[in-house]
Amino acid sequence: MHNIDSYSHLRGESLYIDDLNKQQGTLYGLVFDAPIAHAKILKLDIAKAEDLEGVVKIFTCKDIPGSNQIGGIIPDEPLLAEKDIHFWGQPIAFIVAKSEAIAKKARKLITLKTEALPVVVTAIEAFRNRQFVCKSRTFKIGDTAKAFSQCDYVMEDSTYSNGQEHLYLETQGAYAVCKENGKIKVTSSTQGPTQVQKAIANVLNVGMHQIEVDVLRLGGGFGGKEDQATAWAVMVALAAKTLHKPIKFVLNRHDDLRMTGKRHPYESTFKIGITKDLKIQAFEATFLQNSGAACDLSPAIAERTLFHATNAYSIKNVFTTVHSCKTNLPPNTAFRGFGGPQGMFVIESAIAKAANKLGVPAYKIQEANLLQDNDVFSYGQVATQSEAKNSWQEAFKSFEFEKAFKKVQNFNTQNHNFKKGISVMPICFGISFTNTPMNHARALVHIYQDGSVGFSTGAVEMGQGVNTKLRQIVIQTFGIHKQQVSIETTNTTRVANTSPSAASSTADLNGKALLKACNKLKERLLKVASKSLNCAIADVSFKNNTVYLKKKASDLSWEKLIQTAFLKRVNLSEQGHYATPKIHFDKNTEKGHPFAYHVYGTAITEATVDCLRGTYKIDSVKIVHDFGSSMNMDIDLGQVEGALAQGIGWMTMEEVAYGDDGRLLSNALSTYKVPDVYAMPKIVEVKALDTKGHDLAILKSKAVGEPPLMYGIGTYFAIQNAIKAFNNNYNLKFDAPMTPEKVLKSLYSNAL
Ligand code: MTE
Ligand code: HPA
Ligand code: MOS
Repeated sequence: MHNIDSYSHLRGESLYIDDLNKQQGTLYGLVFDAPIAHAKILKLDIAKAEDLEGVVKIFTCKDIPGSNQIGGIIPDEPLLAEKDIHFWGQPIAFIVAKSEAIAKKARKLITLKTEALPVVVTAIEAFRNRQFVCKSRTFKIGDTAKAFSQCDYVMEDSTYSNGQEHLYLETQGAYAVCKENGKIKVTSSTQGPTQVQKAIANVLNVGMHQIEVDVLRLGGGFGGKEDQATAWAVMVALAAKTLHKPIKFVLNRHDDLRMTGKRHPYESTFKIGITKDLKIQAFEATFLQNSGAACDLSPAIAERTLFHATNAYSIKNVFTTVHSCKTNLPPNTAFRGFGGPQGMFVIESAIAKAANKLGVPAYKIQEANLLQDNDVFSYGQVATQSEAKNSWQEAFKSFEFEKAFKKVQNFNTQNHNFKKGISVMPICFGISFTNTPMNHARALVHIYQDGSVGFSTGAVEMGQGVNTKLRQIVIQTFGIHKQQVSIETTNTTRVANTSPSAASSTADLNGKALLKACNKLKERLLKVASKSLNCAIADVSFKNNTVYLKKKASDLSWEKLIQTAFLKRVNLSEQGHYATPKIHFDKNTEKGHPFAYHVYGTAITEATVDCLRGTYKIDSVKIVHDFGSSMNMDIDLGQVEGALAQGIGWMTMEEVAYGDDGRLLSNALSTYKVPDVYAMPKIVEVKALDTKGHDLAILKSKAVGEPPLMYGIGTYFAIQNAIKAFNNNYNLKFDAPMTPEKVLKSLYSNAL
């Protein structure tokens, strides 16, 4: 089935916050933010700005009726700065005016006197100062010290992976309107409507029942709206509540880039021990996560780094630690992969380092250590239904790896100014929120008297196609036409206490809840049908909008059945609740079974480097991916391709740059390069691994949103292999992204 949004997207009719019909008298918000990264506030003067014609009010921390606090996991993040500033771009005041242009003028009239404090922008500096946003964590299994002493080769090195800007097409924003009796309705571009509702209630000092949050769809989130959509929604709600006016605030791109956090940069060190048979016996890593100025989702992201520190490999002795370092950058946040990619980059770097030392291609080491059933992850979960070897072997066979490898070698002996590199990237990604209590969801289904169906869940559509998958579930269960089924907006008054749409689990959690609700209705309706047709329930089924009797269409249509049920006073509405079974995790022992299942796959990447210029092209990425049993291959393929593009961007060209003063330098698309259609590999091939799927996946169709991003890591190593083919003196560096500048330097580094 096509993505249900494709029609309105194509016609430009899909609605986003900026397109909403605004009520008469709507006012416009704008943030005045810190022009310095770390300072004491000496004096904030808003008088002149507030006097400007058309300015209605300027809110500061003094105007907050409840708690000036929006921290999700830890209350360490004020909505509006009070006495001090912790990052460049931190919101200080919220201007409300009759137009956006007036608000902009007013922003220029606000003056701020500060006393500068020392600015920390790197994780290592914060680490040395012992500045953390939360507790450090360690996962361990086996005995690394002993194992290293028995290894034939032990190697150590350090790695860096940079941040990444989400660059959702729709910038952050929200629209608040007043309802009766002091209630506020906020339409927000958020992945987490309940989180927004809760934060607003807390800041306004009202009950959550006074706040309704509604989400139609997002023009992309990618994790950037899991936590960081909250501030703006709270600001418009605060202003609406105070002024009794509708308030709209959509950030412009510059403000959005400057004020919001990104993927966490990581500075890491590793030690890897290998025996002559290429078995990785021991692995240690220390991850310094650049968390930014407040906690945000950093602890959960740090945790996922540890969960994925050994990627798709079985390693018996592991010792990994992550430190969430507090710096003066905007709080870094969720980004597709959620710390997993940062972890995987380090183990892949360690393998590349080892391969180089041993003089074997990296894939030989990767292959010798792939995860198998009954292997134990460092966090105690036992691998089952592992597809690591299957996807690897399928990729080697389908894409004729050995032949391709030789072809690259031949090319390199025959060419001097161009060199090719090839790499293999296996992935293994855990599905479930790492925080077990978040793994549940609800759905609400109404069958209307005419047989049409409307339903709601806690899922937020952000382009990943979850609404289409959800609608498929209803259509399949009732056997009715797609035109008869519509999905409502995600609204906290219909479906409450939701987890954010994240962790690639949205379709699994909400879909399973929806399926439960639909099945309850179906059971009731089967009874009605069996009575009407005077037959056994087991003989009745629903298909083609008709009730089937023993596989033959009866003359009872779906519509007629619904009318009958309604007249018989059968309840045509139902709720479903789903909580993932079997998962648990104990943070004291750091052991448990946190994931419902894992998603696997293998990517083979070829790149060509222009050795005069340092530029490169990704020739091909060929993937065997574990979709389980895909319920919508069009959507799932789109997810793989989109995630791959984002992974390639992160690894090769997207360079988030801050000055030593903490100012964002890459603050526009002229200075921040994202992959475009030309940066994509000439050939992207995706083959579905033939499996039976997993019972904990919705209709056995595995989660697909995040895992394929990590195929992009293969690009780094393909390019690196090409560099090595040109310059044998090049000392491997693990410093992503691998920009053309870095490639050029590497090509001629240590040259004789
Ligand atoms: N795809 C599109 N088009 N837009 C997005 O914002 N977000 C990604 C991924 N794919 C995203 C996307 C992220 S970070 C996650 S966690 C998942 O989708 C969330 O959706 P799911 O749980 O339905 O897979
Ligand atoms: N993924 C995404 N978001 C989350 C997670 C996770 O594992 N845990 C908490 N929020
Ligand atoms: Mo995705 S980073 O879990 O929103």
